[in-house]
Amino acid sequence: MIVLGVETSCDETAIGIVSAGKDKRDVLANIISTQIEEHKKYAGVVPEIASRLHLQKINTVFDKALEVSGLSPETIDLIGVVNQPGLVGSLMIGASFAKTLTLKLKKPIITVNHLIAHLYSNFLKNETPSFPYIGLLISGGHTLLMIVSSHQEYKIIGTTLDDAVGEAYDKIAKFLNLGYPGGPIIDKISESYKGECVKFTPGLSNSKKNKYNFSYSGLKTAVLYHTRENPDYKRESVIKGFQVAAIKVLYEKTMNLSKETGIKNIVIAGGVASNSYLRELFLNTKGVNIHLPDPVFCTDNGAMVACCAYYKSKLKKVDGLDFEVYSKPKGGPLAYLKKDLR
Ligand code: KG4
Ligand code: ZN
Repeated sequence: MIVLGVETSCDETAIGIVSAGKDKRDVLANIISTQIEEHKKYAGVVPEIASRLHLQKINTVFDKALEVSGLSPETIDLIGVVNQPGLVGSLMIGASFAKTLTLKLKKPIITVNHLIAHLYSNFLKNETPSFPYIGLLISGGHTLLMIVSSHQEYKIIGTTLDDAVGEAYDKIAKFLNLGYPGGPIIDKISESYKGECVKFTPGLSNSKKNKYNFSYSGLKTAVLYHTRENPDYKRESVIKGFQVAAIKVLYEKTMNLSKETGIKNIVIAGGVASNSYLRELFLNTKGVNIHLPDPVFCTDNGAMVACCAYYKSKLKKVDGLDFEVYSKPKGGPLAYLKKDLR
């Protein structure tokens, strides 16, 4: 089955084409047009600019995906598109594009939750995760710890009470004038710095009540105060200190959940999954099966959307052309997904 995946929820216009079957999912094209340069000067994504750029870029991205895959549009069997959560104006561009293509090609369309699509970047490899698994979804918008029992059963065990981990990276980078997005920059500086680092305590690290929840706003303030109170602070030492605290708490809570539930399959996804320190911690842990996508599939992309749509098609979850887009579903990030899967 040839599946096309469309992703426009934030600041990447992305289209992937995956040849999907029971035994393997081959990525035939994965074109990402990033808007990072355009949003850099605002140190964050400007929604109005994002939707205009999606509109400008989406046709070119589609043409490029066809060119790279060597396929003609008629060979596409299924269209997958992200319709939630994300910036509404941006989601609408991807949704309109996908609906038009569906009408033209007369092929089925399946809507996909962006967060679930991230998990499916781990299903692009031949060896796929087994159920149940612990899902750790870490991006610019979310920090979720969940137990996934099947392709349609997702239970959120923990979430962030304030900032998402990627958001904390971006805010710290903005504060320290490092550039945007902060994650890769902070990661690179931390990785090359071999000296002592400042010890920060991440929020809720030892909380009994919030055993599996996260909090990043306190850590952000701690970094801010440290730099104010120590005018000759060592930049690298503060940056690495932040990274160690931000990542270690993700690792520890995930491993605690694994020990408590006995679930040994751990699936990590989202932009922060490309973090070198996080990968090192998890990949050096014995006795568990760690699934991490290749770095190119960690940040937003169309291949993960196509892969997710393929598995959803097996559940006979085809959509009509009247589907809507949703920014932040009431009742949590997976609220519409639950309704959808009933
Ligand atoms: O999944 P993603 O592309 O978009 C969202 O759905 O949010 O994630 C983007 C986030 C940004 O906050 C970025 O700073 C962070 O992922 N990020 C990283 C790294 N690469 C990207 N954070 C830490 N370390 C990295 N290497
Ligand atoms: Zn994402």
